[in-house]
Amino acid sequence: MNLILLGPPGAGKGTQAHAICLRFKIPQISTGDMLRSAVAAGSILGQTVKAIMDAGELVSDAVILELVMERLGKPDCDSGFLFDGFPRTIPQAEALTSNGIVLDHVVEIDVSDEEVVRRISGRRVHEASGRVYHVVFNPPQVEGKDDETGDPLVHRADDTEKTVRERLKVYHDQTRPLVDYYFDSAVRYSKIRGMGPVEDVTKDVLEALTE
Ligand code: AP5
Repeated sequence: MNLILLGPPGAGKGTQAHAICLRFKIPQISTGDMLRSAVAAGSILGQTVKAIMDAGELVSDAVILELVMERLGKPDCDSGFLFDGFPRTIPQAEALTSNGIVLDHVVEIDVSDEEVVRRISGRRVHEASGRVYHVVFNPPQVEGKDDETGDPLVHRADDTEKTVRERLKVYHDQTRPLVDYYFDSAVRYSKIRGMGPVEDVTKDVLEALTE
């Protein structure tokens, strides 16, 4: 099963990706997580993209496509994958088609801009795994610690209200057009209301994928 999770920043893509990947035993390909790993490692790629990410802008299509195509070549993608945060522009989506990547289902998670700001201000992440929490809506078992490893959780550098509003603007300008692009395509498309509790959204997403 080859899937795309589409939606604004903070819609819950990473949160739902975790449940979907467990259920279908496919890897999560999060371009955001891949870029953050490069930043944390201090690689040349990381040094190049850090300021762009901190400002809430998009990294170039060429850089993203190189990362994604290399990732798709790994054996764990043979039985499917879930794209989380990719594609983010029409050229990224077109590149998938021109590289012969066939998609089975696009799932859009629909959340209002004000909910995005509310969610992101309380988000905490486990950097090594990408696991996400919210101080109120999805708290860890022990405050400030990852449930599985006990490592400290961090507040992402691009999770300030100012940057989130810029990321929302970038989403509406450059990524939202993918909603029409995929809705009008031959790929199966499901729009899920993302405003309820995490478990309710998961139930709706899994139902859409197994119908
Ligand atoms: P990326 O990491 O992809 O960030 P994003 O798309 O902005 O998405 P987020 O990770 O912020 O949110 P999410 O939808 O995964 O929500 P989450 O599950 O965490 O990208 C970061 C940057 O990298 C970009 O700005 C760009 O610079 C660059 N980049 C990445 N990919 C790129 C690409 N393809 N092209 C170009 N540049 C790229 O949930 C958010 C919070 O809400 C959490 O605290 C969670 O616990 C909580 N929550 C989740 N669901 C619910 C719910 N139902 N109710 C209440 N709270 C909830």
